[in-house]
Amino acid sequence: MKGSKKIIEALNKQLTAELSAADQYNIHAEMYRDFGLHALYERMHHEMEEELEHAKMLIERILFLEGTPDTASREKIKVGKTVPEMIKLDLEYEYVVISYLKDAIKLAEKEGDYQTRNMLTKLLDDSEEDHAYWLEQQLRLIDMMGLQNYIQFRAVGEPNPHA
Ligand SMILES: [Fe+2]
Ligand SMILES: [Fe+2]
Repeated sequence: MKGSKKIIEALNKQLTAELSAADQYNIHAEMYRDFGLHALYERMHHEMEEELEHAKMLIERILFLEGTPDTASREKIKVGKTVPEMIKLDLEYEYVVISYLKDAIKLAEKEGDYQTRNMLTKLLDDSEEDHAYWLEQQLRLIDMMGLQNYIQFRAVGEPNPHA
């Protein structure tokens, strides 16, 4: 099915953002592992996999709409040095991704492409209610516990968040 050029462009912009998020979470996950913060490593590795899953959904949709998925472009990622900085940068990028998603959802509605809208809404749920929410919680925990306690708390593994 041939999709509108505007929709395909918006989906490609979203694809770039999801792949960029995956890159940023990948380096942060590996840094957490290097710090010995296993729970943070596991969680961020899982987030990275979810961003790749989002990218896959976008690629499938673009192909279905007879567009060409752009899997090469990236936005500039931001790598932090300390745990709070890494969490803040990841949250900042989730907010960027959420704002793109909202724009793309508006466009899909305007163009009457409800299947694209539904797919983007699923990505928005994951971004707002899962990724951004978890990152916001971590910053609150650091505030409440102090960084040293938080780090001690995160040095050990935790059960799979989605089990
Ligand atoms: Fe995502
Ligand atoms: Fe996300």
